[in-house]
Amino acid sequence: MRNNGQIPLIHPDCLCRVVWEIYVLIITITITISAPLRVIFLELDTTLLLVCDTIGMLTYIFDIILKFNTGILQHLEVVTDRRIIARQYIKKYFLWDIIAAIPFTWFFSASGMESANTLFRFFILFRLFKLVSITSTLQRAHRLKFIKPAFARMILLVFWILIAAHLIASGWILIDGPRKEITGIEPTPNSIYLEAYYWTVTTLTTIGYGDITPETSTQFIYTIVVMLIGAALYGFIIGNIANIIANIDVAKSKFRERMENISTFLQYRNMPKSLQNRITKYYDYLWETRRGYEESEILHDLPALLKTEVSLFLNRNIIERVPIFKNASPEFIREIVMNLEPVVYAPGDNIVIYGEQGSEMFFINIGKVEVLNEDASIYYATLTSGQFFGEIALLLSTPRTATVKAKGYCDLYKLEKKTFDSILTRYPDFAKDVEKQAEDNRRKLGLT
Ligand code: CMP
Repeated sequence: MRNNGQIPLIHPDCLCRVVWEIYVLIITITITISAPLRVIFLELDTTLLLVCDTIGMLTYIFDIILKFNTGILQHLEVVTDRRIIARQYIKKYFLWDIIAAIPFTWFFSASGMESANTLFRFFILFRLFKLVSITSTLQRAHRLKFIKPAFARMILLVFWILIAAHLIASGWILIDGPRKEITGIEPTPNSIYLEAYYWTVTTLTTIGYGDITPETSTQFIYTIVVMLIGAALYGFIIGNIANIIANIDVAKSKFRERMENISTFLQYRNMPKSLQNRITKYYDYLWETRRGYEESEILHDLPALLKTEVSLFLNRNIIERVPIFKNASPEFIREIVMNLEPVVYAPGDNIVIYGEQGSEMFFINIGKVEVLNEDASIYYATLTSGQFFGEIALLLSTPRTATVKAKGYCDLYKLEKKTFDSILTRYPDFAKDVEKQAEDNRRKLGLT
């Protein structure tokens, strides 16, 4: 990517940038876990960990350089102005990133100050400031398409809770928080840490078994603070989890709520059981076929061009199924698709009633309908997927010549008379096909 000054900038979404961010994330998590442990268990300060820390520090320094050289996304546009990029970075994360990248461990090794008795070992904890800028990477993960946003939020929440618990447990060890004495077992860093984590979780979650209790004033103060954090965190976590779970399948929970409202209403109005069953089955069908989404609601806010594209995609089945659409021009398809309205009929519904004035015709997407005479004593035909009906009344402005009844659940597309008339005048091929079908039907009915 080049900006005005011809200096190459990295695209924020380019694969190498994403891989780098994942790498920084892994390094940060490793340092976040290891740094507090190094402060409390001095024996862990091995060469290997020092090497890891150096790798981490170099990573952080390189990350700062990269951030000054990566475009930023604003309103889905990549900003390439270096001044804006630098200003934004300095304002948000630069300070934290630079503190996290300072090579403290090198200073202390060089000056010989890195001893168990000095406070300097605490400086390693400054690396944890990297967690601040890591939030932006984690927020980016929300945009991943293969994971539901609610799940991403849940993972993030668990991540922060685990990190917080780890830091609190490390603090408990640091202040020499008491442990359960188990005779005959020599405490190891692992068992000490496990018990401290256990104390943290029982205190944070407000379970508080009371088997590990503070003894000194510092420990009491620490416990009080953790308890207060726990009480606040508990409400926050429960609220968040409830919200996340409710959002895991928004469509389903919305649909369920609607169904519950409807069935309460049906029971309140003492509707006959059979009617209630029919209504429930109808909603089940809607859920099975369209997951409760109302197409028109989704299309409503889209700009015209996107609306057409989406309609073309959603209605692709009907275009393939209806023979008279198959070879039609793209303009005709676009126009018809934009004006077709999906409708669902339950078994036994009269879609068209003999003798009534007609104001629409129907295309069958899925399902079967029966064409019958006025009192349903004469059967004319069964129409299925890809066929259409209701054209006679529109073409000739006469009452309906037959009753059309849904045999099972029917997914139909409705075309209003006004659009039908306007399309008819502009697309003679369509007019010819519909007229031919109308003539055939009228002949069968003995009307011509
Ligand atoms: P319309 O008269 O508007 O409403 C009833 C519809 O049933 C009619 O249009 C035709 O589309 C359709 N129809 C009528 N008679 C037949 C038939 N014999 N076979 C198939 N379809 C028919």
